[in-house]
Amino acid sequence: QTDIYILAIESSCDETSVAIVKNGRDVLSNIVASQINSHKRFGGVVPEVASRHHVEQIIACIDLAMEEASVKIEELSAVAVTYGPGLVGSLLIGITAAKSFAWANELPLIPVNHMAGHIYAAQLIEELEFPLMALLVSGGHTELVYMTEHGDFDIIGETRDDAAGEAYDKVGRVLGLTYPSGKEIDELAHQGKDSYHFPRGMIKEDHYDFSFSGLKSSVINLVHNAKQRDEELCDVDLAASFQESVIDVLVDKTIRACQEYNVKQLVVAGGVAANKGLRNRLKKELDQVLPQVKLIVPPIKLCGDNAAMIGAAAYVEYQKQHFSDMHLNAKPSLTL
Ligand code: KG4
Ligand code: ZN
Repeated sequence: QTDIYILAIESSCDETSVAIVKNGRDVLSNIVASQINSHKRFGGVVPEVASRHHVEQIIACIDLAMEEASVKIEELSAVAVTYGPGLVGSLLIGITAAKSFAWANELPLIPVNHMAGHIYAAQLIEELEFPLMALLVSGGHTELVYMTEHGDFDIIGETRDDAAGEAYDKVGRVLGLTYPSGKEIDELAHQGKDSYHFPRGMIKEDHYDFSFSGLKSSVINLVHNAKQRDEELCDVDLAASFQESVIDVLVDKTIRACQEYNVKQLVVAGGVAANKGLRNRLKKELDQVLPQVKLIVPPIKLCGDNAAMIGAAAYVEYQKQHFSDMHLNAKPSLTL
């Protein structure tokens, strides 16, 4: 059997990334050009700025990815690209680059869902086994996804308001941290304790949906009221209390879902999967309650947005010959 080399492109938000992935498993290169420094001063990703950076970076990223992987263009089997969900302008840069590259080199074009990519980051670490549950936690999404086979996604629960990462970033703003603040809150949280006891949104409710806006408002109100009264709050305790609430809900619902659906594996994916507190708690509770379930959490550089995960997801589509023609368009609100 011949090896399948896929060139994958990811540009849905604020990272321009190109990777070469062999047989959906081996990452030969994974170039990630982050724009975060350009967005920090605005406190969030500015779509126009993001598109412009993608245009400037994409060709160099393709060249670097090819060079680092040491594969020849003739060895490539397909070009894969994220076509949604994401920022429309950002997506279009990646799609246009992918189409041009595919057309010029007579390669099939594979459209990939960004969220499927986050789940398939796990496939770069360990062979996926079904049925599995995936907890997808990023800046834009918080979802529990049940899978019975490759390419089959059933969203059994999702956030009804803010995504987990979004709550981190908004709480970070009132704490005076720079965007994105998930990582910093995680670090502060480990130095503090849960002394403020914020609410655990929907934790006991009999479904798998999430809500983080009540928690976010509780933190923001507490900080604002303290400011008005000139009271001092303990930042590390605020971070710890907020993080404990997020983790309690995520872990409780995820473990319940794994139990009810009787899964073999639990995959944790998306930017918030980098959270140390979340990783530790999930591991500990799975070991105690469901030791038969295998936990797969990709290394931190595969948790954030990157093209290697798109190459891994694309391999499944390649095998099913799910190719697109040159009419492929961006789908900003694409779901799994
Ligand atoms: O998946 P991602 O790179 O981009 C998308 O949203 O698609 O996720 C970014 C999110 C941001 O909200 C960031 O604050 C959060 O992931 N994040 C974290 C941590 N590292 C990144 N949240 C909590 N703890 C972390 N260690
Ligand atoms: Zn993402």
